[in-house]
Amino acid sequence: MTTENDYDSVNGHASSKMNGNTREENGVELDDELDLTEVVPDPYCDETSPYIVNFNDVSAAAYKIKGGVEKTPCSLSQMSKQYDMQIYFKKDFLQYTGSFKERGARYLLSQLSQSQAKRGVIAASAGNHALALAYHGRLLQVPVTVVMPLSAPMMKVESCRQQGASVVVTGMDFGEAKRYAMALGKKRGLMYVNGYDHPHIVAGQGTMGLEIIEQVPHMDACIIPVGGGGLIAGLAIALKTLKPGVQIIGVESERSTGFQAALAAGHPVRTHVGQTLADGLAVPIVGCNSLATAQGHIDKMVTVRESYIALAILRLIEQEKAVVEGAGAAGLAAIIEGLVPELKGKTVVVALCGGNIDTTALGRVIERGLAAEGRLVRFGVTVSDRPGGIAELTKRIAELGVSIKDILHERAWLQTDVFSVMVRCVVETRDIGHARLLEREMRKHYSHVEFSLDVPAA
Ligand SMILES: Cc1ncc(COP(=O)(O)O)c(C=O)c1O
Repeated sequence: MTTENDYDSVNGHASSKMNGNTREENGVELDDELDLTEVVPDPYCDETSPYIVNFNDVSAAAYKIKGGVEKTPCSLSQMSKQYDMQIYFKKDFLQYTGSFKERGARYLLSQLSQSQAKRGVIAASAGNHALALAYHGRLLQVPVTVVMPLSAPMMKVESCRQQGASVVVTGMDFGEAKRYAMALGKKRGLMYVNGYDHPHIVAGQGTMGLEIIEQVPHMDACIIPVGGGGLIAGLAIALKTLKPGVQIIGVESERSTGFQAALAAGHPVRTHVGQTLADGLAVPIVGCNSLATAQGHIDKMVTVRESYIALAILRLIEQEKAVVEGAGAAGLAAIIEGLVPELKGKTVVVALCGGNIDTTALGRVIERGLAAEGRLVRFGVTVSDRPGGIAELTKRIAELGVSIKDILHERAWLQTDVFSVMVRCVVETRDIGHARLLEREMRKHYSHVEFSLDVPAA
């Protein structure tokens, strides 16, 4: 791979200087002179001649980053029996900045030419890639600028600043942030680092595969969350080279299915990306090097529903005592949703690749997960408004061992007689069976019951 020193010549703007024409947005100085309509090419990600990462690249990356990133545990899960497969979790959310992105970031930064390392790098990212670059940039003394979209969690923006990165927050989405980063990089001579497609990034991510095969040599399959494709490409090369029989299964969220679209088309295609719990996977157009590298090595791609991602996050907290973000939990979500029945009885490694879930979002996700399991239930029931009517209802609920979390009554909008009241409850149950029992009891005693148990089959 010869991407080490050639950025200077391709870029050609090494000595550009800011001319001071700046404005502030969210307390951050923005360069108003940048031409954001110009398409700045990325010399390392050229769709007309993609770079296919090979096993030597991954081995070189492993040698280079040894000691610089954690070798994370890959341990047998408590859930193995429940899903009738030997499930091993590769816990890369235990990296210092909370994700596998450190592998690629560390390798890329260690391969920069001296002059590029002095000048620095720039990247667009909503989170994990930015954090990884900021952290390893500080350790390796490479100046790092990250451009984060306005939607990036405050927590991650602040963490990047704390690591000493120059942080620019601009753009409604990742695409706009990237355009700004490419333009600023060109102007200031900073190398743009694609977080899922630069060949060194892909090779770095592949090092996780070398660890996995050493830790679980008898593995049959690996389930890998897919965003821009860097992780699955690196892992596929490492695993298939060392053990060709291993099945590689990629997982996308139902709200971002760009990799499957690209596999079908044979090239990256722009796809619509919706709001998803797996924000790390929300990439509108996947990487061309990653696609070319992974193509032919992926045995199956599956799409998980959002409710199963919430459920997977909840199960990991409750059963594994692991805080994993949506993107990192997508592999387990695929198992829970029943999308990989062919793996029953097999030894399966699931990459838990990130743990940076926004604390404010975590509470909501847990509630979603509880609702998806039928353990948090919302229903309405019309009862008598005479003295004792509501007390009778709460008594019936209590007798079932169901706990009321929230209760309110509505009178003004009821169509029935004026001596009725609609009581709306949010309650906690033991499980879906318990919730169904509650529903039956309510229907037995009251003529008007609104009960929707929208629980996906486990
Ligand atoms: C936690 C987590 N998992 C998985 C992915 C997907 O990785 P890739 O974009 O290389 O496919 C990302 C990407 O940011 C991530 O942050």
